[in-house]
Amino acid sequence: MSKVKPTVDRWSSRWAFVLAAAGSAIGLGNIWKFPYIAGEYGGGAFVLVYLLCIAVIGVPVMMSEVLIGRRARRSPIAAFEALATDLGRTRRWRWLGLVGLSAGFLVMSFYAVIAGWALAYIPKLASGALVGANPDGVNAAFAALKADPLQLTIWSSLIFIATIAVVAAGVQAGIERSVRWFMPLMFLLLVGLVIFAAVEGDFTAAIKFLFAPNFGQLTIESVLVAMGHAFFTLSLAAGIMLMYGAYLPADTSIPRAVVSVAFFDTLVALLAGLAIFPIVFANDLAPGAGPGLIFQTLPIAFATMPGGQWVGTAFFVMLLLAAFASTISLLEVVTVHLRERLGWSRPRAALGMGFIIWIVSFGTVFSFNIGADWTVFGKTFFELIDYLASNILLPTSGLLMAVFAAWLMRRQDTAEELGLSAQQGAYRLWSLVTRWAVPLLIGCVLIGKISGTI
Ligand code: PHE
Repeated sequence: MSKVKPTVDRWSSRWAFVLAAAGSAIGLGNIWKFPYIAGEYGGGAFVLVYLLCIAVIGVPVMMSEVLIGRRARRSPIAAFEALATDLGRTRRWRWLGLVGLSAGFLVMSFYAVIAGWALAYIPKLASGALVGANPDGVNAAFAALKADPLQLTIWSSLIFIATIAVVAAGVQAGIERSVRWFMPLMFLLLVGLVIFAAVEGDFTAAIKFLFAPNFGQLTIESVLVAMGHAFFTLSLAAGIMLMYGAYLPADTSIPRAVVSVAFFDTLVALLAGLAIFPIVFANDLAPGAGPGLIFQTLPIAFATMPGGQWVGTAFFVMLLLAAFASTISLLEVVTVHLRERLGWSRPRAALGMGFIIWIVSFGTVFSFNIGADWTVFGKTFFELIDYLASNILLPTSGLLMAVFAAWLMRRQDTAEELGLSAQQGAYRLWSLVTRWAVPLLIGCVLIGKISGTI
């Protein structure tokens, strides 16, 4: 067995896990990325494929990751080492933990910078600085933020400091206490925004755009993007679900908890679309604006809408809360790893890891200004690590985690963790999908991505 002792930390209830895991899953991926990629890839048909990917790949992989975590009750690298040794397999499986951890490390380094944009937009909107601004003025404000490394550093550093403080406080006193009020508040704000969009915006156009599939618009590329995004949005394969699973009380049903998390994550992505697109369409703006959709297109609408100043502020507060619960989860895993390896206290490990990732985050900060032409394969530092983490490391790690759970682990162990009997239909379905469909589908995505379809 591994030298690393099992963790004694536990969530106080099943709901604490669901809130923390949904907090990790719900974030920039749902509110910033999902609407803009749905916009770019034409809406309805893309949304349908995305929903299928969540159900067919996302849920079984999340079940695998959480069950590995609870079985091992250790952080990812130690977890694979312990389980593989126990199964009489090579200890090299610990490298799989490292792949996930590295992906999380890289995601955190750019995620904190973009979360910093959301933070920066709160005073920008609340102060009324954009009220009455024309589109050029709004675009210029976004460009000015990105062009200024000092501003970007200040905003992202605030995110780092807050995240370190929460992780340092521990599983129940830090993470659980934060998500208990972040997530409900975020959800209330989001629902309020959807109601505002329904009253003030073109709701019918948004519904049509999101839910009326036009399969002619579906391309191989959009299917690959939808699958890749299903991973990112559920925070899969980065060791987070494994770590959060390690804190799960023994009597909690993993399938039920996982389905709740996937449900909330999907609900928030769709609600975000319903908060954004009615306003976009009512103001004759383009849905396919790309990454600038919520930082440029939406503020253009807020600048002239009645109450736009406050609705806009609420929007970015909501985005910040969602992103913050995700940065907490990203820092948690790497912190626990450092703590186990070096025997450091939790606050010291959180500070140490936070500091290292903060240094790496300068790569992303500079990608938007002085380092915009420091490119490798035509990609800036930010684009490169996003590509590497989201398109290569996460799918690879997800595929191997599925293989580990469904092929290597003993049936009776996985069945026990899932709270099912190995003969039950639900267990057979999980096993079948995770053994065959998941590796096959993710394999196609990986080959598609690496061979440059994207
Ligand atoms: N799931 C988060 C989001 O949608 C992002 C994330 C990805 C977090 C990978 C952790 C790991 O915003």
